[in-house]
Amino acid sequence: MLRHLATRSLCVLLLLLSAACNDEATAPSREALIAQLRTAAAAAALASPPPPAPASPEALALGQVLFTSRLLSGNRDTSCATCHDPLFATTDALSLSIGTGGVGRGPNRQLTPLRRLHPRNAPDLFLRATDLQTSLLRDGGATRLEDGSYRPPEEAEQPYRDGVAGLFSAVALFHVTQRFDMRGNAGEEAIDGTPNEIAAIDEDDWHSMWDALAVRLREEATMRPLIAAAFPGEAPESLSLERIFSALDAFAAQAFDSRDTPFDRLLSGDDSALSDSALRGGLLFATTAGCTRCHNGPLLADGTFHNLGVPFVGLGQEYEEPYDFGRASQTERTTDRYAFSTAPLRNTAATGPWMHNGAYTTLEAAVRHHLDPRDAILRYDWQQLDPLLQSTWHGAPIDNARLLSTLDPLVATPISLSDRDFDDLIAFLREGLTDADALARVATIQAP
Ligand code: HEC
Ligand code: HEC
Repeated sequence: MLRHLATRSLCVLLLLLSAACNDEATAPSREALIAQLRTAAAAAALASPPPPAPASPEALALGQVLFTSRLLSGNRDTSCATCHDPLFATTDALSLSIGTGGVGRGPNRQLTPLRRLHPRNAPDLFLRATDLQTSLLRDGGATRLEDGSYRPPEEAEQPYRDGVAGLFSAVALFHVTQRFDMRGNAGEEAIDGTPNEIAAIDEDDWHSMWDALAVRLREEATMRPLIAAAFPGEAPESLSLERIFSALDAFAAQAFDSRDTPFDRLLSGDDSALSDSALRGGLLFATTAGCTRCHNGPLLADGTFHNLGVPFVGLGQEYEEPYDFGRASQTERTTDRYAFSTAPLRNTAATGPWMHNGAYTTLEAAVRHHLDPRDAILRYDWQQLDPLLQSTWHGAPIDNARLLSTLDPLVATPISLSDRDFDDLIAFLREGLTDADALARVATIQAP
């Protein structure tokens, strides 16, 4: 009897095993997965970006000092690295940034009286200084035109002048004119007690602000020799801020380069670069999950704008409060409302909070939102936000109706993924798209 039972159990076990074997036989082999992912990647033009242009060591040195120098802000208290902090993967790890006057670093940074939270989340800066970018800022405010010239955001009363060297420095030129980012309020004194001469300039006169900042930089004892070295044979007095900031383009292209994620290695022939889970996730990314409809090309971003229905969080933009019209602020087309630029995805796991306003504080929630935005806004958990921001969430039916009125059709049909598929997709983003060497290299940049 016992023996009979044992034989039976053995049979059942064998049956189960053979079922499992059959299952294995239907799942594609690792080799097949790799081949499928490479084909799907090619179809979506996913590829490694080209290497940055070479630059002189002197230009790179000046660029790094400019990036980390608080002299660039009217009050001498805020640098580019304050909000794009090398220790936080070139972000501040806050949902919404805090500019001049703020105290503390990274996620510990705090707002002080008379200041305003930035309406937007500080994006990371990886691959933002490559020629592949045709516009920057989340609404595409800074644009490179076909003739190679640059157009500033709509709010600019004056055009860019000659000498702007790249989109990256075009954004820097914008940032230094913005009161709550870097310029400060009229009548303020800088933290060292000197008058804030940049803040005193007329609101619309960007050219004078740039000229005043160029004077400040050229006259500073530590900056002057660096400027002279980066532009040999040119008198420092003749250098405009546009020219000086060209060192930022050179520096950013090198320092924020990122082309060595495991996914890049897979594309260049390394079959062992991705785990099985990340491989499956990559294939979902490029097929069933529909991600490459927008996250395509070498940057994993299509260079255009989409309304994903991201919950309204934050104070919004001036004249649009409490909303941020996104792309419509630039085009003035109501159909472009709430559309934002597709985010490049290399190193995304390290650069939260996510979305243009940091509405999501986990990568999983940001990705899940894409699968069914209508459902996501109804279930939005505002408790994930910093207490300061919780009351800035607008999620009443009338807000949701506004938000969904221009929802991108590409995300209007819900996509359902099994739990395993979802985990695989996240594994692809976390493991496959993280360039550990680039993150480590960036973290060595000496910041404030
Ligand atoms: C107050 C915090 C803050 C400071 C200081 C700051 N940034 Fe930014 N940066 C932001 C925010 C927020 C955005 C997004 C703004 C938008 O989309 O309208 C941004 C956007 C950018 C972008 C565009 C990225 C993209 O993907 O579109 C670049 C490039 C950039 N900043 C570089 C710089 C440089 C260079 C400096 C120094 C001159 C600087 N930033 C100073 C917060 C800051
Ligand atoms: C309709 C175009 C579109 C599709 C399809 C799409 N995305 Fe996005 N994605 C965007 C846009 C636009 C943003 C930026 C939204 C914002 O700033 O509010 C974004 C942002 C993200 C972010 C946050 C990046 C950051 O730094 O804040 C992640 C992660 C992401 N997408 C992953 C995915 C994944 C995974 C898929 C597939 C399931 C996907 N996306 C499908 C357009 C799209």
